[in-house]
Amino acid sequence: MTRPRLYSGMQPSADSLHLGNYIGALLQWRDLQEAYEAFFSVVDLHALTQPNDPAERREKTRRTAAQYIAAGIEPSKSTLYVQSHVRAHAELAWVLSTITGFGEANRMTQFKDKSARYGADQTNVGLFTYPVLMAADILLYQTDIVPVGDDQKQHVELTRDLAERFNGRYGQTFRVPMPVIQKDTARIYDLQNPTSKMSKSAATDAGVLWMLDAPDVSAKKIMRAVTDSEGVVRYDKENKPGVSNLLVIYTALTGRQIPSIEDEYAGRGYGDFKKGLAEVVVNEFGPVRARALELLEDPAELDRVLAVNADRAAEVADATLADVYAKVGLLRRG
Ligand code: TYM
Repeated sequence: MTRPRLYSGMQPSADSLHLGNYIGALLQWRDLQEAYEAFFSVVDLHALTQPNDPAERREKTRRTAAQYIAAGIEPSKSTLYVQSHVRAHAELAWVLSTITGFGEANRMTQFKDKSARYGADQTNVGLFTYPVLMAADILLYQTDIVPVGDDQKQHVELTRDLAERFNGRYGQTFRVPMPVIQKDTARIYDLQNPTSKMSKSAATDAGVLWMLDAPDVSAKKIMRAVTDSEGVVRYDKENKPGVSNLLVIYTALTGRQIPSIEDEYAGRGYGDFKKGLAEVVVNEFGPVRARALELLEDPAELDRVLAVNADRAAEVADATLADVYAKVGLLRRG
């Protein structure tokens, strides 16, 4: 029996993934890889939209792949590969860009945010067409579901629109994917600025819990997390965004319900609560960090695994691309 397909990816845009990536995406990926035929990419072509030193870029790509594996993605079970190793991604992105409206792309809020942040001089065309490349990633694999954090929902919706448009014009070609977003934990916020999402490009490091942070560094960041003056551990996203974010992290990592955590810390203040959470985070990340660092000690083996997986991915992707080229009427090379 064939399993339904799953596709997701992350940008290798930092030395380490962070707790938002872990809770918003990786935890779901790990659970879903059993029931789905899963493809997980390190989207290095997407990361080209941000400037970086070439050697650092290569290293971040390996580090991201190592962290996928360390977090429980099994490259013998799921196809874990590097986007640029499969040429069909860039090629399908071009075709899809020709059916994407300029205004449609211009409505993407992530582009608006990023271009506002970078300013006109640093905003490249690749940032604008970023969601089209993402659509190509997903559609090449005849994907059923795309598990992501809620910041990617709009991109998956664009992907659905493009799939339907293409199918409408040229006949059934792409499966139309569904986003899968975990409601309560879809957005983890910065510890220092709990109304902005935790992000690889945060202004300061203090609010970001990196998966590869040393345990004492993670603990310190949690102890210094911004809270409020009420002193009561209670979920109230509007009025207590800092404490609410910490509660969401607690529940996501332990599987415990928020009221039970509130009860445990009733009358005990934030110090105890933060200590408890620091323990939870350190226990969770400790083994992941150790395994990732171990994998990175043998880059040749990691590269070998990625190459085998890229071959597997290319087989699926090339078949879809060939179908697309035929459907749109590109002359086959004789
Ligand atoms: P990226 O690298 O920004 O983020 C990777 C994943 O982590 C989730 N995420 C978060 N979830 C909760 N709270 C946060 N603070 C937080 N920050 C990040 C993101 O939602 C994402 O799921 N465009 C994608 C990468 C991509 C992709 C794809 C994803 C390229 N092609 C195809 C799915 C399918 C991105 O920028 O991810």
